[in-house]
Amino acid sequence: MRQLIAANWKMNKAGKEAIQFIDEFKKLIKNIKYAEIVICPSFTALNEIKKSIINSKIKLGAQNMHFENSGAFTGEASPLMLKDVGCEYVILGHSERREFFTEDDELINKKVIAALNNGLCPILCVGENLEQRKNNKTKEVVEQQLRICLKNIDKKQMTKINIAYEPVWAISRGDPNHKAATPEDAEEGHKLIRNFLEKMFDSATAKNTRVIYGGSMKPENAKELLSMPNIDGGLVGNASLDAKSFAEIVKSAKLN
Ligand code: 13P
Repeated sequence: MRQLIAANWKMNKAGKEAIQFIDEFKKLIKNIKYAEIVICPSFTALNEIKKSIINSKIKLGAQNMHFENSGAFTGEASPLMLKDVGCEYVILGHSERREFFTEDDELINKKVIAALNNGLCPILCVGENLEQRKNNKTKEVVEQQLRICLKNIDKKQMTKINIAYEPVWAISRGDPNHKAATPEDAEEGHKLIRNFLEKMFDSATAKNTRVIYGGSMKPENAKELLSMPNIDGGLVGNASLDAKSFAEIVKSAKLN
């Protein structure tokens, strides 16, 4: 499978800055073969970016979504709206949504189902925080997140889902010097996820689901992380804000 390298810009880059990035980035990735590239900008930049990525290798994703198609939900964006603006992907259950906007696994499950029903590919985020890791709860926490977030999903639908393992303690929160998980620690998390997918579905589903890593991935560590057997791509925050550094990461991708 092709590795998925997705940029999560979080709450950064308004229209003009976003377009400048795309213009520079497109030139840098002309010869890319192996990566599937997705950019997830803010809602307000989606439309402009959609126009600027026509005939390029870049696909569009959103960072969040409501589970209803329309209604009285002030401030929300629906799956239909994301499709309408050209999104193919949507990040769901990011730890910042869980922590700052009180999203829980049940809500995220509704969003996963709504995304699939509307032809969007979810990038479902799971991962333990530092305290949970210190208390040896990683397996329990991640399995519980998967169990609930993927409730009522069948094997066929799983072919559209990407899982992002984002250990919360490795997320940079904007600090370029923050430490990523070691490739070995990341690999262990990915294996845990794959083993659980095998239990929950079957071995083909476990093998074919892309499990990507997020948490301080940058040009300096991307190659090593992406060369681990169970790491099928990256979800990149801070280092995706700079066209050159994101292009370097994209160049580190390979066929898995
Ligand atoms: P950083 O790459 O800034 O650590 O962010 C990771 C992340 O949260 C991607 O969703």
